[in-house]
Amino acid sequence: MKKITTDYSHIQFHEGHSKVDIHQVINLFNSAAIWAKNRKKEELEIAIANSNPVVTAWDHKQIIGFGRATSDCIYRGTIWDIVIHQNYQGGGLGRKLVQTILSHPRICHVERVYLMTTYQQKFYERIGFEYNPTTTMVLQNQPIEQELELTNSKIRLLSAKQEMLSQNIG
Ligand SMILES: CC(C)(COP(=O)(O)OP(=O)(O)OC[C@H]1O[C@@H](n2cnc3c(N)ncnc32)[C@H](O)[C@@H]1OP(=O)(O)O)[C@@H](O)C(=O)NCCC(=O)NCCS
Repeated sequence: MKKITTDYSHIQFHEGHSKVDIHQVINLFNSAAIWAKNRKKEELEIAIANSNPVVTAWDHKQIIGFGRATSDCIYRGTIWDIVIHQNYQGGGLGRKLVQTILSHPRICHVERVYLMTTYQQKFYERIGFEYNPTTTMVLQNQPIEQELELTNSKIRLLSAKQEMLSQNIG
């Protein structure tokens, strides 16, 4: 990857939920995070509230980087939504963002730190992550309303069967 020699020493990294400006994070995601485009504000707020640490990178009043993690503080931690604004990529800020998360007390003691990435394996390799093809599975959960409707239809079906059975027995 091409190295950029711009001076980013004025970029500030902040940890904490209170620092997050949700509208700026949405703009950042819409411009640079293909997996997180068009996320709803209310849903993103839930994801951020349930993450710790949450790290933002700032160029004065503009958020130019974001990342978050979840952790059980002992066995497993997972890093999510690492993004650096396009105009600031290639200058070491992505590495600093991930390292800030990795050094947080909720992450630095866990046995393993996981992450999912489709295209950025090389970037994470530079930070010390390794390929791990053996342990990855995924459940594509349906939206909650759909799941509830499915459960309700199954219950209705079961009740109907029981009704038929009891009529036959009677
Ligand atoms: C991935 C991303 C966070 C990297 O941030 P960045 O600031 O550009 O990366 P850095 O400059 O800190 O790079 C750190 C090292 O990784 C290397 N690197 C970064 N991106 C790379 C890539 N796509 N391919 C190969 N190497 C890469 C850099 O050359 C540098 O190497 P070095 O150890 O020799 O110095 C940024 O490009 C981004 O936000 N991309 C869009 C969103 C995205 O894909 N996020 C990851 C989702 S899992």
